[in-house]
Amino acid sequence: MFDFDRVVERRVTHASKWDNMARLSGITAPDAIPMWVADMDFPAPPGVTAALSSEIERATHGYYADTGSWAAALTDWMARRHGLKIEPGWVSPTPGIVSGLGLILQAVSAPGDEVVVFPPAYHAFRKIIVANERRILDAQLVLRQGRYAMDLEALRAKLTPRTKVVFLCSPHNPGGTVWSPEELRALAGFCAEHDLILVSDEIHCDLVFSGAKHTPTMMAAPEIADRLITCVAATKTFNLAGAHVGACIVSNPALKRRLDARIAACGLGSYNGFGMIATEAGWRTGEAWLDALLVYLAKSRDQFDARIEAAAPGARSMHLDGTYLAWVDFSATGLTPEDVAARVAQRARIYVSPGEQFGPGGATWPGSTILDEALRRLDEAFADIPARK
Ligand SMILES: Cc1ncc(COP(=O)(O)O)c(C=O)c1O
Repeated sequence: MFDFDRVVERRVTHASKWDNMARLSGITAPDAIPMWVADMDFPAPPGVTAALSSEIERATHGYYADTGSWAAALTDWMARRHGLKIEPGWVSPTPGIVSGLGLILQAVSAPGDEVVVFPPAYHAFRKIIVANERRILDAQLVLRQGRYAMDLEALRAKLTPRTKVVFLCSPHNPGGTVWSPEELRALAGFCAEHDLILVSDEIHCDLVFSGAKHTPTMMAAPEIADRLITCVAATKTFNLAGAHVGACIVSNPALKRRLDARIAACGLGSYNGFGMIATEAGWRTGEAWLDALLVYLAKSRDQFDARIEAAAPGARSMHLDGTYLAWVDFSATGLTPEDVAARVAQRARIYVSPGEQFGPGGATWPGSTILDEALRRLDEAFADIPARK
């Protein structure tokens, strides 16, 4: 019903993933493959294209009127897909999640305050904290049976009176970890105990594979709703990242007023119409597309895991429960990180996110057609290293 194998040529279309690649990576080969930005190469759900096309055909693109239908569409989606009951009045749109994180920091903390992140973690968390003159407090994730886990006791020992906020990524980028209700409750209890605001970035919540289940932090720990801000978006789910629209969900009216004051102070209370139309259409019409996508992505994940481990003996790809990322540990290949990076960039002509942005080595999958080619090149790039026992 949906053709995820069709390759859409994205070069020279202002697609950051493709058109920023040479500048950022130095890989200038005309057949280079980008596996760095978390956006997909698939066309959006047909209902999104139809909604945008109507707007384009009308050809009048004046200011967008927020009639409440956008928050209502989000509310319905969260109830349908995740069993989470929210009220439209709890929702504040922002120009994307990362800008929302910046606004939240400004609303609930002061320069010099500390913000907890769980590395390896999405690199923009670090950048937005530093750009807002707050400090990063790293709570290193630990590996347990091939899966990441939070070490709250180690974090407890590092807290200071300046620690004010926790940025959680749920599901986790880059590990694809879907946190259990128990893990979320433990973190929530920790935040309550230490008077911390918990920001739960759930942008990847819809991209969870069969066998795993995303639990919104708000459902796992309703008792801390007063100190919780949940960030969600339709942009990862439906491949609309260029729409740059996200939502902060805050049920505590006083906390929401603080956030809305920052949104108003930055003149962000009026929204990008194209983004609002596209994302609302995703929530309203994209469900069958998403269900088909998840089946396709799970196959891509399995193919990637098997092939990368065969291509570079010793490499270990973390088995992701969610997200369309890939997270590969090359440390047991016997190669230096520089050698691995050179083989991937120069021999395979593939641009991956530099591992040190998050911790060690990560990439995103392209569609299967491009993925096949990328994997074939990785086979070649590592062909000369001996098999490991
Ligand atoms: C965890 C997480 N949060 C936020 C974003 C980006 O959100 P936005 O484009 O809405 O700022 C990403 C993109 O990869 C992400 O992985």
